[in-house]
Amino acid sequence: MRVIGINGSPRREWNTAQMVEHALRGAADAGAETKLYHLRDFSFKGCVSCFACLLLGAPTHGRCSYNDALKPVLDDILAADALILGSPVYFGDVTAGMRALLERLWFGGLAYDPAHFTRYERRIPVKVILTTNAPAEGFHTSLNKGIVATMSRFFGPTEIIEANDTLQFDDYARYDAAMFDVEAKKRGRAERFPKDLERAYETGKRAAAEATEQAS
Ligand SMILES: Cc1cc2nc3c(=O)[nH]c(=O)nc-3n(C[C@H](O)[C@H](O)[C@H](O)COP(=O)(O)O)c2cc1C
Repeated sequence: MRVIGINGSPRREWNTAQMVEHALRGAADAGAETKLYHLRDFSFKGCVSCFACLLLGAPTHGRCSYNDALKPVLDDILAADALILGSPVYFGDVTAGMRALLERLWFGGLAYDPAHFTRYERRIPVKVILTTNAPAEGFHTSLNKGIVATMSRFFGPTEIIEANDTLQFDDYARYDAAMFDVEAKKRGRAERFPKDLERAYETGKRAAAEATEQAS
């Protein structure tokens, strides 16, 4: 059983990366083979509207075949048994990199067919991790609802977990960021973030368990 994790933050060691890593650790402890991709390592575009995925009778029909660095990542996702996506919230949405991946992942499997929403046949569990400066869940309701609705239709049961009020800088004194209560941010990092990582770990474990159940 293979579980793929995607870190959609441009930072490879910060909040989102750690959350995705913990989720993959949970999946590994539940018996999965895991692979983590950092989107910052790949140079790629969003959907270019080539429509090769809709071309009847073509080998490209039913998946995104645009041949840039993201192609192998998309292929790996489509062969996976569970998917863990992580993104910081940027202006109420996922990052541009994660959005580009979603465009290609979703449109590649879209069927303009009244009988089928998607050409993807496999149902896999999807866990989406969002990290935010916002102090609590509920600030991005339409983003969360949209991701859950679309992911569920293309892939399978989709669950979102959030790590909120994250630490954004190592040293707040060096940045133009007077609105933040630095001591509260540091306390959150020391006391709340470890619990967020634990939730991510449990979520990854659950993803692997659900994938096993799906396969049986
Ligand atoms: C370009 C940009 C836009 C952001 N927009 C939001 C936002 O709309 N809401 C929010 O809560 N946090 C926002 N943030 C803060 C990040 O989502 C937050 O710090 C996140 O945990 C960073 O993830 P990382 O540490 O994995 O990079 C933004 C940060 C950046 C750099």
